[in-house]
Amino acid sequence: MSQAFWESRYQSGDMPWEKGAPSPGLVDFLAAHPELARDTVCIPGCGTGHDVRAWARAGFQAYGYDIAPSAIRLAVRQTRSAKLSAQLQIANFLQDAPPLLFDWVFEHTLFCAIQPGERDDYVRALLRWLKPGGQYLAVNYLIPDRDGPPFGTTRDELWQRFSPHFDLLQEWVPRSYPNRTGLELMLWWRRKG
Ligand SMILES: C[S@@+](CC[C@H](N)C(=O)[O-])C[C@H]1O[C@@H](n2cnc3c(N)ncnc32)[C@H](O)[C@@H]1O
Repeated sequence: MSQAFWESRYQSGDMPWEKGAPSPGLVDFLAAHPELARDTVCIPGCGTGHDVRAWARAGFQAYGYDIAPSAIRLAVRQTRSAKLSAQLQIANFLQDAPPLLFDWVFEHTLFCAIQPGERDDYVRALLRWLKPGGQYLAVNYLIPDRDGPPFGTTRDELWQRFSPHFDLLQEWVPRSYPNRTGLELMLWWRRKG
C-alpha cells in the first residue's frame, strides 16, 4: 500500500489497529527476559510508537520507523510526553537503506499490512536492516483474510519464508489484545551467519 494510503488513514483517524498500548505479547516477552543485552532494536511500521516505547522503557536503544508522516508525528509527541528516549523517523522499510545495522528487528502488524506480493521484499528488507546473528522477534497475525489490510498468513508460509535465513529459537501463542486472542503467534528467530 502507498504512503498516501497510510497517511490518509492517520489523517482521517481510521486506525482500528491503534490499541493505545503495546503488544501484550511484547510486554510479556520483555518482562520475561531481563537477561538480554540492551542492544539496538528496529521497529518498522511502528505507527504511534507504543511498541517502540515498550522497548525503550525496558532499556533498549529503540528506533521506530513508519512510512506515514502523521504516525511519526504522533509517535514523537507521545514519546516526549512519556519522557522516554527513542529515535523516530519516516522510512519505507521495504525500499530504504537502513541508517545502521540492528541487533533486533521487532515485527508487529507490518507483515500483514503490506500487499502479499511484497512479502519477498519484506524478507529482503529484513536481511538488509538486521545484523548477521541478529534477532527477529515477530508477533504474527494468523488470520485467513485475503482482502486486507490486514492480509492473513499461516505458520507454514512463515516457516517457508524465514527458516532459510533464520534459526527458530522459540515459538508460542502470546497474550493478545482482546479481539486478537488466539490469532497471534510469536516467533523468535536468530539470523544465520
Ligand atoms: C496496521 S498498522 C500497525 C501500526 C503499529 N505496528 C501498531 O501495531 O500499532 C501498519 C503500519 O505500517 C506502516 N507501514 C506500511 N507500509 C510500510 C512500509 N513499507 N514501511 C514502513 N512503514 C509502513 C503504516 O503506515 C502503519 O502505521
